[in-house]
Amino acid sequence: MKYIYFDNAATSYPKPLMVLNAMQEYFLNIGASPGRGGYKNSINAGRIIFEARSKLKKLFNAPKEENIIFTLNITHAINFSLNSLLNPGDHVITTSMEHNSVIRPLRFLEKNKNIELSIINCSKEGILDPGDIKKAIKRNTKLIVLTHASNVTGTIMPVEEISKIKKEYEIFLLLDTAQTAGFLDIDFKKLNIDILAFTGHKGLLGPPGTGGLVISDSMTEILTPFIHGGTGSKSEYEFQPDFLPDKFEAGTPNTIGIAGLSSALDFLEKENIKKIRIHELELAERFIETIKEIPQITLYGPDNKDKRVPTVSITVKDFDPSFLAYKLDNIYNIMVRPGLHCAPLAHKTIGTFPHGTLRFSFGYFNTMEEVEFALKALIKIIEEGE
Ligand SMILES: Cc1ncc(COP(=O)(O)O)c(C=O)c1O
Repeated sequence: MKYIYFDNAATSYPKPLMVLNAMQEYFLNIGASPGRGGYKNSINAGRIIFEARSKLKKLFNAPKEENIIFTLNITHAINFSLNSLLNPGDHVITTSMEHNSVIRPLRFLEKNKNIELSIINCSKEGILDPGDIKKAIKRNTKLIVLTHASNVTGTIMPVEEISKIKKEYEIFLLLDTAQTAGFLDIDFKKLNIDILAFTGHKGLLGPPGTGGLVISDSMTEILTPFIHGGTGSKSEYEFQPDFLPDKFEAGTPNTIGIAGLSSALDFLEKENIKKIRIHELELAERFIETIKEIPQITLYGPDNKDKRVPTVSITVKDFDPSFLAYKLDNIYNIMVRPGLHCAPLAHKTIGTFPHGTLRFSFGYFNTMEEVEFALKALIKIIEEGE
């Protein structure tokens, strides 16, 4: 029986075949570490990394290739940024819709490094009022950390408005693009972002173990290295080199993963992000349209498709989300994600804590037939009762 995968907000699956081909090519014919030798394969590995930086620069309209810093995922990228940037006494503003990859490092820094934290409550639809961010600004506010879209409700955050506020008050902005990269057009320069964090394995369609940061020119000076070690450059020197990207990239990189990500970026360019967005939103819209007619179902987040990513959270009266996910998987081979989705504050905001919601997140390789099948399956489970 066919399997249907609707957990693309966690990680996208399947990946384009060309991603596997690029990884296999590296594995079979290159294998070496980039920047660690003058021989051909090391140079070819270096070329893979450079090309990936170059494609990411284009995708995000980043200042320069070397302003792209590779990390293992966005969690690593966010931790690196927060630990590097924040000092005792600094005030940070974030929202109640953030993922634990933002909340946990901030709570840690609040407890251990004496930073001040304001978490702005969003509405029950997960919508942020930019005025509330403005009201929270203080003399010592250094940074706003914002998810570009919620991984629970799919709500897209008003980043343009926040960008205006950060400019007016001269505050830095860190944008978490885990749920939007590869889905929305994101212009680093136009949005006046200081730090953009991305992950390679969700909408960018690359393999796990890839992610990173785009940093502004001023951030290249302000941030201090978080990890120190070998770079293949300036080896005679006992301190981390101060030039980019080596200043922020110590240790052997995940070249095989970056080869896959680079190929995924070619796929996105070839298929076109707008076309991808239209397809994914059509699936989400069809799903939403039907569930809105079912009285036992509550939909969370906006139902206007211009205000959301294709991640849809629901609850069903008298059903535990885990039970529904179990039934969908066990009987119909449909994979969805119940629970808190690593975002407990988001669930408190929308009123679904502690049981969470049942989350369907659609991806480029999903079809309308799969959505129709899942709707029928869900309706049948509800009719049969718990
Ligand atoms: C909004 C958001 N931020 C951060 C993350 C963490 O991503 P990763 O596990 O790739 O570090 C996720 C993953 O679900 C997410 O949805």
